Amino acid sequence: MTDQPTFTLDGEEIPFAEGQTVLQAALTADVYIPHLCYHPEFKPHGSCKVCTIRADGRNAAACTLPARAGMAVESASDALNGLRKVLVQMLFAEGNHFCPACEASGDCQLQALGYDLQVTTAGFRHFYPVRPVDASHPELWLDFNRCILCELCVRASNEVDGKSVFGLSGRGAGKHLIVNALSGRLADTDIAVTDKAVEVCPVGVILKKRDGFAVPIGQRRFDRSPISAQAARDAPRAARGSKEDA
Ligand code: SF4
Ligand code: FES
Repeated sequence: MTDQPTFTLDGEEIPFAEGQTVLQAALTADVYIPHLCYHPEFKPHGSCKVCTIRADGRNAAACTLPARAGMAVESASDALNGLRKVLVQMLFAEGNHFCPACEASGDCQLQALGYDLQVTTAGFRHFYPVRPVDASHPELWLDFNRCILCELCVRASNEVDGKSVFGLSGRGAGKHLIVNALSGRLADTDIAVTDKAVEVCPVGVILKKRDGFAVPIGQRRFDRSPISAQAARDAPRAARGSKEDA
């Protein structure tokens, strides 16, 4: 135990195992670093940049940065939280997020992070992109409006379900989620309601039909306690494959 290498995170000593990233070590030590595209069951992706920290004076993504002994990491500073707040505001502006009408309200990581970072104004003019809903599948529907391009569904469908149902297409502001079928419709894929890709979306894009409001808004995961209190606790359990819910 005493031989385990450590780094400091906001002054606190964090032990880590060989091969762990800064974010993995922090979550294992029950310390929360805000993140969106990282999921403990998947390889780090490094795309959302919400987990940006300062390590030995340089900005880096905590989810992809390998932990090194003696490194001094800063995460909970006003400057870094200010940067994260802007990123979250940009994600809200890029999609048509209207939380009161979203089935994922109270169970959405983007919304929960917004609360945590005290996002109280839009910050940017919304783009209001035209993104039609796909309700073609008998069991599932897709509301493309809310996609934050984290690629978790893409990764889950490929790596866990072995199906490749989802993909991202386009670049920059035109980047968007697509369904890998000639018709582009979910009904024409082999997705199943039990697929990992269905469960993994951190916002309200991939939704089950006839399952709406099974848990009333106000009693959902992030209605009960903030994301910062849950992600650190959940991550090591999820990494161990536990099904236990928070
Ligand atoms: S649909 Fe959900 S899981 Fe897939 S890329 Fe968009 S936000 Fe991520
Ligand atoms: S969680 Fe690290 S870049 Fe998205």
